[in-house]
Amino acid sequence: MLSSDKRPIGIFDSGVGGLSILKELRKQAPAENIVYFADSRYFPYGTRSVPEIRKRAFAVTHQLLKADAKLIVVACNTASAAALDDLRNVFDVPFIGIVPPVKPSVTKSLSKKIAILATSGTLEGDLYRDVVAKNGSDVVISNIVSEDLITLVETGELQSPLLSQMIQKVLGKEISNGVDTVVLGCTHYELISEAIENQFPNVNVCGASAAVARQTCAVIKENQCGKLDDQVGMVRFFTSHDQDHFMAIILKLGFAESYD
Ligand code: DGL
Repeated sequence: MLSSDKRPIGIFDSGVGGLSILKELRKQAPAENIVYFADSRYFPYGTRSVPEIRKRAFAVTHQLLKADAKLIVVACNTASAAALDDLRNVFDVPFIGIVPPVKPSVTKSLSKKIAILATSGTLEGDLYRDVVAKNGSDVVISNIVSEDLITLVETGELQSPLLSQMIQKVLGKEISNGVDTVVLGCTHYELISEAIENQFPNVNVCGASAAVARQTCAVIKENQCGKLDDQVGMVRFFTSHDQDHFMAIILKLGFAESYD
């Protein structure tokens, strides 16, 4: 008989963006315990160099392993681009990363014009280059970088006139030029997918958080490390920055269950 593995799933991001994956995991694997680490002191990763982000990914992984994580979800496209291979080479636990979901977006797009919202680190990384090489030959792709929009989301602003204005500024022109599909290539943007959909109702908005949660469940199954009872799992939050500020944001986002 399989034994139940109560150790938590570790998740990290530069800040609140990875909560989008946490939310999906709660739906898909409610019994699992989770420990979420927001590396808020070093937010945003998007303006940092690859070696800096790699260093942070290693430091945060050590923290999550101290908290006994059985596997780690790199809930950040930028950190996946900078460090996923190295993390897999160095640590024994399984890692699940994230890359902008180009393939499903190409399938959805009728105009064959898509826009990718991501950080420059993600857009310059091998993971993204490979998915575009495999799946992007039929489409025109506009790469859009807006650290301002990511920073606004990090403050917990998920619905407001200021957010709408900024979404318009970032996406309006491309959408008037025929883009019919927007790819959320940064987990922060997944938290404003509804706001983008409401503002541009005729545009497809594609994120990867549900797929990452599915992949995490598959890895748990493969490694036979699931928590097998029916009791709803605990979620613990850690941050490398101001705890009260982070707490206020996760409460605002409706996520706080327990907090360290
Ligand atoms: N949430 C991160 C991502 O998916 C990036 C945000 C940042 O620039 O820190 O890429």
